[in-house]
Amino acid sequence: MYRLTGKRILLGVTGGIAAYKSATLIRLLRQHGADVRVVMTRNACEFITPLTLQALSAQPVHTDLLDLETESAMGHIELARWADLVLVAPASANFVARHVNGFAEDLLSTLCLATSAPVMLAPAMNQQMWLNSATQENFEKIKARGITILGPASGDQACGENGPGRMLEPEDIVPFVADSFVTNVLSGSRLLVTAGPTREAIDPVRYISNRSSGRMGYAVAMAAIEAGAEVSLVSGPVNITAPDRANLVNVTTAMEMYDAVMQKIRDTDIFISAAAVADYSVESIAAQKIKKSDDSFQLMLKKNPDILAEVAALHSPPFTVGFAAETENLAVNAQSKLRSKKLDMIAANQVGEALGFDSETNALTVFWGAEQKQLERASKNTLAKTLIKLIADQYNEKNSNKTH
Ligand code: PMT
Repeated sequence: MYRLTGKRILLGVTGGIAAYKSATLIRLLRQHGADVRVVMTRNACEFITPLTLQALSAQPVHTDLLDLETESAMGHIELARWADLVLVAPASANFVARHVNGFAEDLLSTLCLATSAPVMLAPAMNQQMWLNSATQENFEKIKARGITILGPASGDQACGENGPGRMLEPEDIVPFVADSFVTNVLSGSRLLVTAGPTREAIDPVRYISNRSSGRMGYAVAMAAIEAGAEVSLVSGPVNITAPDRANLVNVTTAMEMYDAVMQKIRDTDIFISAAAVADYSVESIAAQKIKKSDDSFQLMLKKNPDILAEVAALHSPPFTVGFAAETENLAVNAQSKLRSKKLDMIAANQVGEALGFDSETNALTVFWGAEQKQLERASKNTLAKTLIKLIADQYNEKNSNKTH
């Protein structure tokens, strides 16, 4: 089972003999479906070459804070936002000491400060260094800040000594990484998510559509699976891989999406509408390719059903969550959709050139009742995890009110 499908792991490698294990770690993370980007400290490059890790990760390896080439491809702040998880393995005593004190003197230490994603460290050092009270205090401090420490293991060390300080084996690290995404906040619930664009045919070769990539909806589906829900995913045409544990239904048009949703809705506890559904379709689809003739050309469109509004209007609707894609007046428009479509919640995003649609990251403002919560810009996977937690809280509260 691919437990890390679509997950973005930023692997930090610091200087130490255990750096050779990061090669296997990258292979295993990728075998589980993760997208891995590697950041190496200068000392790490003495133990294993960036070229090796570049070949294994199939991505450029980042080594410098101010590197014109990699900064132009993906700047360091963008990299910090891109990550769903930052894993530093091996993490040397020196790296941890600098991180405890908030140093941002190289790329890896800067990223660890700049990311809003969870951070995990797999320490590797000589046993005396590990047992030293300075190191122990440093690890206690970073644990208290919410950073997860994996290991270390005990045993023979490269320096000839024996004791605690060996980096955990890559095979033992990967399950910790996969489990860190599991929340179980929606155990036992049945969730239906729509994602991606719809396509409305004009003639046999043309259609009307939009720039939705499906990433946001797929991330929501994955976060719901990790929250323990049974997930159905109704998806428009996209070029990304669906989580293998979702019941996937592929559709093309808004009408097909409507039919697929309505077929499943009676067995759904929570409905999340992340798809960018076409509001209109072509009144009469031409049987043959339309020929170029006059200077202007008119298409007659008819309104599609509003799937979300129809679900919310059912006699006994599921907990219903919409998305609002807005280019202006985000809060006012989203709150108006929340009320007019009678939704339990709505997640609003600003869309436009390189925003919301088809981008790697997003930012959401979530509205429910008279409340709202801002989810700052982060990877769509990170946002989806927080959104699912918010939905679970409100869904469970609504259910407990019903039973009292
Ligand atoms: O797919 P990505 O590239 O990752 O981009 C993500 C996204 C920007 C598409 C996503 O975050 C998003 O905002 N999805 C909703 C897009 C949208 O159609 O917004 P809207 O404000 O036009 O519609 C409001 C709500 O009504 C949405 O939940 C939509 O799914 C639903 N709707 C709209 C029209 C329709 N006919 N039926 C619907 O169910």
